[in-house]
Amino acid sequence: MKKILVTGGAGYIGSHTVVELVQAGYEPVIIDNFSNTEERSLQGIAAILGREVTCHRIDCTDTAALRRFFEQETGIAGVIHFAAYKAVGESVEEPLKYYHNNVGSLVALLQVMQEFNVNKLVFSSSCTVYGIPAELPVTEQTPVQKANSPYGNTKKICEEILSDLATSGSDMYTTALRYFNPIGAHPSAEIGELPLGVPNNLVPFITQTAAGIREQLTIFGNDYDTPDGTCIRDYVHVVDLAKAHVVAIERLLSGKAENIEFFNVGTGTGNTVLEAVQAFERATGEKLNYKIGPRRSGDVPKIYADVTKATEELGFKTTSTLEEAMKSAWDWQMHLQKTEE
Ligand code: UD1
Repeated sequence: MKKILVTGGAGYIGSHTVVELVQAGYEPVIIDNFSNTEERSLQGIAAILGREVTCHRIDCTDTAALRRFFEQETGIAGVIHFAAYKAVGESVEEPLKYYHNNVGSLVALLQVMQEFNVNKLVFSSSCTVYGIPAELPVTEQTPVQKANSPYGNTKKICEEILSDLATSGSDMYTTALRYFNPIGAHPSAEIGELPLGVPNNLVPFITQTAAGIREQLTIFGNDYDTPDGTCIRDYVHVVDLAKAHVVAIERLLSGKAENIEFFNVGTGTGNTVLEAVQAFERATGEKLNYKIGPRRSGDVPKIYADVTKATEELGFKTTSTLEEAMKSAWDWQMHLQKTEE
C-alpha cells in the first residue's frame, strides 16, 4: 500500500480525502497542528473506516519537526498538502499570519521533501487566483490576476513557487487543484466542516441558522449583474472534491503528470446564493430565515469552472447535485448537535 502524507488531514477537505484514499487502497498518514480543527474529525474518520489513521501533531511550518516526521515515517510516496488558513476577512486583518502559515508551510514542506527524495505533491489551490474573471466559465488558461486578499495572494504565491521550482530543473512533480466552493459532508455524517466560531462560509452559516444557532442569514447583496442579483458560485460536493485528490495523486505516481499542472475542480455549473438557499430548503424541508444585506467587500460577483481539463485528463467527475450536497451538510449539522448534547 502506498503511503501518502496528508498535511491538514484533520481539516474539512483533508479528512474527506483521507477517507477516499483509504477506500482507494492507499495508506494516508496525517499531520495536523489542530489550530483550526478538532480531534473529533479523527474519530469521524475512524468511525467510517472501522480503524484509526495515523496522525502526527505537527505544525507544517516547523522544518525540524517535518524532518523528524520523514525520518520516522519512511516510504512516503507522495504528499497532499492541505494545511493552510482560509478565512479571507481574517487574512486582511492579519496578513503576516497568512503569509507565514500558508507560504511558510509550503516552502518548509518542499525543502524537506527534497531532502528525503519525495517528489510528488498535490497542492490545494483556489479559484481565488482568477480574481474577478473577464470570461466565464473560467478555464485553466483564464489569466491569473492580482489577488483580492492576502489569503488569495498566498494561493497565487504558492502556485508561483511551485512553477519556479518546476522550471528550475528540480524533479518535483506538482498538481495544483484550483477548488471552487466545496460544500457538504460525508454521507455517513461522521465528518464534515467544523467551523470554529461564527462561520464565514455560506453553507455552514445556512445550516447553523436552520439549526437555530444563528438567528438569520444575511445574503451579501442582491444588486449584482446576475439573474436574481446575488453572487454566482460553483458549489462542489466535498466528497467529489476529495476524489479529485485521489486521481491526482494516482496520476502523479503513475508518472503521467507533467512537472506542474493546474486543474479546476468544480461542477461546471454556477448557482446564485438565492438558488443555494432554495436548494437547501428543498433538500431538507427546512425554512431558512434570511434577509438581504449589503455587499461583502472583496466578493467576486460571479465565477464558475470549466472542468473539461480535469474531466479529460484526470477522469474527474462530479456525482452529487446541489440538493444532495445541501442535504449532507444538514445531516452533518444534525449529527454534530446530537453528539454535543
Ligand atoms: C472564498 C474565497 C475562496 C476561499 C473560500 C474559503 C474568493 C473569491 N473566494 O470563497 O477562494 O477558498 O472563501 O473560505 O476569495 N454569502 C452570503 N452570506 C454569508 C456567507 C456567504 O451571502 O453569510 C455569499 C457570499 O457573498 C458568496 C457566497 O455566499 O457569494 C459564497 O461565500 P463563501 O462561502 O464565503 O465563499 P467564497 O467567498 O466564494
